[in-house]
Amino acid sequence: MVCYNYNELLRCEAATKQKKAEIEVYILDTKWVKIPAEKADKHVLKEAGEIIQGGGLVAFPTETVYGLGGDAMNPESAKKIYAAKGRPSDNPLIVHICKTEDMEKIVREVPKQAYVLAERFWPGPLTMIMKKADCVPKETTGGLDTVAVRLPDHPVALAFIREAGGFVAAPSANTSGRPSPTLGKYVYEDMNGRIEMILDGGEVGIGVESTIIDLTEDIPVVLRPGYVTWEMLQEVLGEVCLDPTMLEIDCQQAPKAPGMKYRHYAPRGELVIVSGDREKVSDKIGQLLTEKRELGFKTGVIVSKEEEHLYRADSVKVTGDRTDMAAVARNLFRILREFDDENIDCMYVQAFPKDGIGQAVMNRMLKAAGHRIIEV
Ligand code: TXA
Ligand code: MG
Repeated sequence: MVCYNYNELLRCEAATKQKKAEIEVYILDTKWVKIPAEKADKHVLKEAGEIIQGGGLVAFPTETVYGLGGDAMNPESAKKIYAAKGRPSDNPLIVHICKTEDMEKIVREVPKQAYVLAERFWPGPLTMIMKKADCVPKETTGGLDTVAVRLPDHPVALAFIREAGGFVAAPSANTSGRPSPTLGKYVYEDMNGRIEMILDGGEVGIGVESTIIDLTEDIPVVLRPGYVTWEMLQEVLGEVCLDPTMLEIDCQQAPKAPGMKYRHYAPRGELVIVSGDREKVSDKIGQLLTEKRELGFKTGVIVSKEEEHLYRADSVKVTGDRTDMAAVARNLFRILREFDDENIDCMYVQAFPKDGIGQAVMNRMLKAAGHRIIEV
């Protein structure tokens, strides 16, 4: 057993003598480096690339969320990523590349649609699932014959991937189950002692993870909604399906992206979504806040600027203007982490329309809420 941080170490201390003998303590000295996108230090990028090529791990900024990178061609690196995240190893990693043509090196046969999508959306927040080439280790793809490929739109990410040899396997840089990090300090919070380096490029632009589209079916299927919306994909490809598990509450089917089956993004307290007519939603949230406060719980609410004055809660988090769904996407994961830092027990948020980027926002919110939704 490999033990990666102090909490685990303490837990291990409580283990039996025999167990203790099997434990290898592995605490790394994590280097946390600020690297502004407009003047990224070449020496730092080179050092980060060398860490990856030497089998180590480096977290890096992308336009969506921070990634936890390792060499995609090295099975040992994939194992380290799973250990550092505390993530089940059947949950495949996305391979990040820095130029479109590199997908040909890791995909068995690139479908025509992939070139069309790359032309339109890369570099950008779109991940494509295709049949993998033999050179990609099964450890990277969680045992699957397919590989997820993404060309991110972030100068630091692109320069880092180039220095790292061109193929960086990276999940989001949070410990499994926590909200994806949108700031370097959250990566540090989750990954200090577990990885060699953090490239801190400041706050990310989008705030929810990339859209995932599966190109291995006759009709392409969206497995995870993101900034590149279903509507945008249909415009380019024609017919595109949605994985039925994406927004369903009680779907019996297993999602095709293995990672989508886990309870994700979960704050430590209880988040509840209230859906329905706007006035009724405000009344209901107000009533729930009062009830919970009277019972001695610490309360939180996520609201738009226009509604800020409506609620009394221990913590009121404003996402931006009511119609600015991009701001909700950008701020959601940060707000969930802040609620944790403030030890909030009960949190409320209104449901948002599920079109455009709203689909990604509602998908993440439903997971964060463990699908607790009240209709009014
Ligand atoms: O925006 C993003 O995509 C971020 C940044 C760092 O690039 N990455 C990210 O990775 O969100 P991660 O590992 O947190 O989520 C990847 C999702 C998981 O749900 C995983 O199961 C799915 O992609 N996935 C990866 N490879 C797959 C494959 N071959 N088939 C189906 N699903 C796959
Ligand atoms: Mg993730």
